[in-house]
Amino acid sequence: MLSLKNLQKSYIDAGEKHTILNNVNLSIMPGDSISIQGASGSGKSTLLHLLAALDKPDSGEILLTSSGESCGTNNKRPNDPQTLSHDITQFTEKQADQYRQFKVGLIFQRFNLIDCITVMENIMLPAKITGNVQHEYIRNLLNALGIDRHINKLPNQLSGGEQQRVAIARGLSHQPPLLLADEPTGNLDGKNSDTVSKLLVDTCKKLNTSLVMVTHSEKVASLTQQQWYLNDGRLSQI
Ligand SMILES: Nc1ncnc2c1ncn2[C@@H]1O[C@H](COP(=O)(O)OP(=O)(O)OP(=O)(O)O)[C@@H](O)[C@H]1O
Ligand SMILES: [Mg+2]
Repeated sequence: MLSLKNLQKSYIDAGEKHTILNNVNLSIMPGDSISIQGASGSGKSTLLHLLAALDKPDSGEILLTSSGESCGTNNKRPNDPQTLSHDITQFTEKQADQYRQFKVGLIFQRFNLIDCITVMENIMLPAKITGNVQHEYIRNLLNALGIDRHINKLPNQLSGGEQQRVAIARGLSHQPPLLLADEPTGNLDGKNSDTVSKLLVDTCKKLNTSLVMVTHSEKVASLTQQQWYLNDGRLSQI
């Protein structure tokens, strides 16, 4: 579904070039669950931003393969229902927007909830945008995450851990094929972190959603099928 090929990303800081990702290769198949660990500053969020087409690499490809649909592009080939590949690093802004709306769920490290609308409106945003509103699924998700009693509040009326669970519900509300989660349980205590990360992995499994989850916790990482480590720009499987 997504193939990362020879990804290279660097930043220039005070005139000096810092290589953050160095020849990163990874395959993400439907339903895969993948965790990425690594020291602070090792490039984990940078990698997720590239996968979300929020940023572009210096070089390399991220090939999105899907069958018979337009993947944020208009070049549908109705007579060819087989696989189509698009390099998301070459997407225009509009194609990247469509890709994020329809293909990706995002749970940001800093939540990025919208403060002036309610918890429920935040959660329903991706579902409404994609037109995929499944009321019973949403009810079950809210219940499982323990946030059903907060839905009419504003995000800043919730604790950090509650906001994190709202961000998880928002990431999954439209049942995306790919969920990118940046330390989704980093603000929860040990017990809640265990429960919520298990729920996240199980929900993705049920939906056949591919999960790429950044975490600092070995215990959380152990819930995923594949565990990867980012060090010195290199991604290696543990
Ligand atoms: N826009 C930017 N301009 C310059 N440097 C950046 C930019 N974004 C990230 N960096 C640098 O790239 C490196 C990797 O950042 P990144 O946020 O990907 O790390 P991380 O592994 O997610 O860290 P953490 O675990 O603390 O969240 C850091 O040294 C950071 O300072
Ligand atoms: Mg980060």
